[in-house]
Amino acid sequence: MKTFNDKEVVVTGGAGFIGSNLCRTLLEQGAKVTAYDNLYSGKMHFIKDLIDKGLNFVQEDIRDPVALEKATKNCEVIFHLAAQTSVPFSMENPQEDCEINVVGTVNVLEAAKKAGARVLFASSCAVYGNPEQRPTPETYPTKPIAFYGLTKLLGENYCRFYQEHYGLEIVMFRIFNVYGPDCHGAIYDFLNKLRKTPDKLEILGTGKQSRDFVYISDMVNILLKAAISPAAPGQVFNVGTGTTTSVAELGKMIIEILGLENVKISFTGGQAWEGDMDITLADNRKAVNTLQWKPQVSLKEGLKKLISSGKY
Ligand SMILES: NC(=O)c1ccc[n+]([C@@H]2O[C@H](COP(=O)([O-])OP(=O)(O)OC[C@H]3O[C@@H](n4cnc5c(N)ncnc54)[C@H](O)[C@@H]3O)[C@@H](O)[C@H]2O)c1
Repeated sequence: MKTFNDKEVVVTGGAGFIGSNLCRTLLEQGAKVTAYDNLYSGKMHFIKDLIDKGLNFVQEDIRDPVALEKATKNCEVIFHLAAQTSVPFSMENPQEDCEINVVGTVNVLEAAKKAGARVLFASSCAVYGNPEQRPTPETYPTKPIAFYGLTKLLGENYCRFYQEHYGLEIVMFRIFNVYGPDCHGAIYDFLNKLRKTPDKLEILGTGKQSRDFVYISDMVNILLKAAISPAAPGQVFNVGTGTTTSVAELGKMIIEILGLENVKISFTGGQAWEGDMDITLADNRKAVNTLQWKPQVSLKEGLKKLISSGKY
């Protein structure tokens, strides 16, 4: 497969942040796209305009293997993005986190096996826990510190098993912090707090926790490259920029871009939440060298794009 024109693809989690942005680009490239999502955290308004442009929306659960098999029957590629994505929720609800992120992933792999489809699996940098080596390469030992990271690591291992035993073409991504239109997480949180109260910003934790922030167009780009690259199957790629920014610095950057003055920044102190990572910083050389992928959008530029989109 060289392009997406007329190709049938399924995006699980297609009504979520990354999924809806991916569906938009796939449709622009002429693919026949199905978004498979039970709207657990995804939103209809993220994809409403895409349905008018030909997106096939299937409101089903990845824990339902029959519905999954039906939706993926003729597809060539499955982007498996559907997941329970909250670290705090995973700590409070390990069974539900496991059912969605592990059993759901096994169902996707079974469906892919029947369809003969390539799978692109959204794992997370959370599989590393708190690594001592930074930037962290893919070869660094995995040691998650939250159930969410654990279920992503189990998902990766199921992917490897399906690849080795059934010859499925599977590519895995250890995604760092993605942001952009319709995102969630710290950037969304800060923008919304500042919209409500432009004179103060409360930051969870010490503010020293630091993240490798990736803009959504760079995220979508690596998924598309890996979906057609002959070198990608069987590989795991970090998706990060190789730079890290503390959330305190992030808060200041957002305030500056919004043009706000005299904003009182406060910190709740301690850990932002149980299972939160200290510093994330990707060694992205493998993706750069294997996929000829390079992040194009700096944090400042990306924040400006997000703010001007108004989608937060
Ligand atoms: N956004 C990030 O920074 C980031 C970082 C690391 C990994 N990831 C991974 O990337 C993927 C996409 O993340 P996102 O930020 O778009 O999250 P999101 O929460 O916006 O999207 C996840 C989507 O999955 C859907 N979903 C959840 N449970 C489902 C189920 N049982 N059946 C069908 N659909 C279900 C949700 O409704 C939602 O639309 C996830 O797998 C996430 O773990 C994201």
